[in-house]
Amino acid sequence: MSARLDGLKVFVRTFGCQMNENDSEHIVGVLAAAGAAPAGGPEDADIVIVNTCAVRQKSEEKLYSYLGRLARLRRKRPFLIGVAGCVAQVRGADLAARVPAVDLVIGPDNYLDLPEIIGRAAEAPVVRTDFGRDWREIGPEATARVTPASAFIPVMEGCDNFCAYCIVPYSRGREKFRPLGNVLAEVRSAVAAGGVEVQLLGQNVNSYRDPGSGLGLAGLLEAVAAVPGVEWIRFITSHPKNFGDDIIRVMAACPKICPALHLPVQSGSSRVLARMNRGYDREAYLALVGRLRRAVPDLLLMTDIIVGFPGETEEDFEATCGLLREVGYAGVFSFRYSPRPLTAAAAGPDDVPLEVKRRRLIALQSLQRSLQTGLLRSFVGRELRVLGSGPSPRGGGRFAGRTAGNLVVNFEAPADPSGRFVTVRVGGSGPYSLHGRAVG
Ligand code: SAH
Ligand code: SF4
Ligand code: F3S
Repeated sequence: MSARLDGLKVFVRTFGCQMNENDSEHIVGVLAAAGAAPAGGPEDADIVIVNTCAVRQKSEEKLYSYLGRLARLRRKRPFLIGVAGCVAQVRGADLAARVPAVDLVIGPDNYLDLPEIIGRAAEAPVVRTDFGRDWREIGPEATARVTPASAFIPVMEGCDNFCAYCIVPYSRGREKFRPLGNVLAEVRSAVAAGGVEVQLLGQNVNSYRDPGSGLGLAGLLEAVAAVPGVEWIRFITSHPKNFGDDIIRVMAACPKICPALHLPVQSGSSRVLARMNRGYDREAYLALVGRLRRAVPDLLLMTDIIVGFPGETEEDFEATCGLLREVGYAGVFSFRYSPRPLTAAAAGPDDVPLEVKRRRLIALQSLQRSLQTGLLRSFVGRELRVLGSGPSPRGGGRFAGRTAGNLVVNFEAPADPSGRFVTVRVGGSGPYSLHGRAVG
């Protein structure tokens, strides 16, 4: 008999990537199955869980400032404070020692045990950061989806790549794969709950292998596409060094697979890529982009860039800017390098001065802004299929949604199109989104 939390209210605050957003859906679902109810915010919660990201120094700092806020709130009213996710995993017991307000520290492989751990944390602080070697199934019934029309479905977790700057292999452990049958069961249940889009998640989805049959990502995509009711399929994140031609062929052949890819390049300089241990050089990356575009002509690409990796020269940085011009990304997430514990790069000097990192980041972002403004302008006048997500955060009574290519569209429509497909005539564009009006 598992622990019960009847009558308790829980609030989960999420930082980090889609995997963390999906994990938060699991956390809420597991706690709801134990009887807990959702709280509107930390103010009316009995338990607050912060699901954390460790990928950059800034990501981790967000946790500490949020914990400061929670500790102040708790002077007025008692509640339990839990830290989950990647900072919990890498900092473990040190975190509980450093921040006395924290009652429980729980790593990503332990969420099924949350009800029991919460019960014990009411007595004394608990730290649980065991790593499972095998996939730990959290069934669809214990997943409280925030966006039912667009379901996150984890297919693998962890990473074996050890890029020199990256903490993820330590916060998520080695690669482990979810059995195909379980993935498909969750896809079916997501469709039954109104899902039309599925986003297959993993730190490195391209290395997916079904533990039973050895089937890879290409086969997984075909199997998911065969589930009735699935309209759009995305998969994130792809590693450029694991992008086999079999995956490209399936993308070209299957219209349900969205013509959009997140394909992190990190740098346009082969010298820096080698020192980052990325496993490809500039030429191999550009050749891959060429193969993808020949197979999927309307493909839109997004990427991640790190500026100021140790030893990055002005010439290396220029090579990155040149690569952005050459590829023409629809979006770029760019970051200043920050050393992370346990990583190979953190053992050496962080030798690009902060002012230089800042200047390079600003230059790169303004270049990308102008490139992307030009790309988005080319969509004006077209009619695009859009999956509605709800009222536009920009307000004005408009709605928001995304295209198959993953472009954000703000549009006028006669009725709320949340979770439905609408055709939008694009009337204008900006650097980050399109706008228009629903037609038909
Ligand atoms: N699994 C994904 C990336 C996960 S981390 C992949 O393989 O690409 C998300 C992004 O954070 C990375 O792509 C990288 O651009 C950035 N990042 C990771 N470690 C970083 C560090 N130490 N400093 C700055 N940016 C970092
Ligand atoms: Fe980190 Fe590299 Fe693994 Fe991506 S592939 S999660 S950047 S180690
Ligand atoms: Fe951050 Fe962990 Fe995701 S470090 S990017 S939340 S896998």
